[in-house]
Amino acid sequence: MKKHTIEIPVEVYTDKEELSPQDQNLLNEATKALEGSYAPYSKYHVGAAVLLENGAIIHGGNQENVAYPSGLCAERVALFAASSKYPDIPVVSIAITAHAEEFKIHKPVPPCGSCRQVMAETETRFQKPIRVIMGNSTGEVYITKKIGNLLPLMFEAIELKKK
Ligand code: THU
Repeated sequence: MKKHTIEIPVEVYTDKEELSPQDQNLLNEATKALEGSYAPYSKYHVGAAVLLENGAIIHGGNQENVAYPSGLCAERVALFAASSKYPDIPVVSIAITAHAEEFKIHKPVPPCGSCRQVMAETETRFQKPIRVIMGNSTGEVYITKKIGNLLPLMFEAIELKKK
């Protein structure tokens, strides 16, 4: 047996002000995207903003449903909206933030597993790394430069190819 250790490179910024103007702007756009969140059940609002290669910025807010699994996370709302509007334009980066009605969020918001999988598909589709900017209203921001970092050993299209 051999042991294989995978490292995940994540940049940690103590404050939003340390970010590049482009990253800071996208995180601000994610905050604006919170306005589109519909979260009457969890009262946990998530906003995502996707920057495309043509400069377009697409917002997504989480969409909940009384039949809980029918809802969708903010990141997928934004990525699917981007793909529907601009099917041929690669995604450069995605910023995520959250606001909870009943408590304060102290840590950057990491995307859930299903959102990571959808980000991975987008990355593979355009063969371009997607920068992920994870923040919230206060405190630290995490940035990682590609989805592969958040989803090591991911299931990829090559697995479906007959040898
Ligand atoms: N949520 C997101 O929108 N993105 C994530 O990556 C994690 C969770 C939403 C789903 C649900 O509406 C609420 O947050 C609580 O889980």
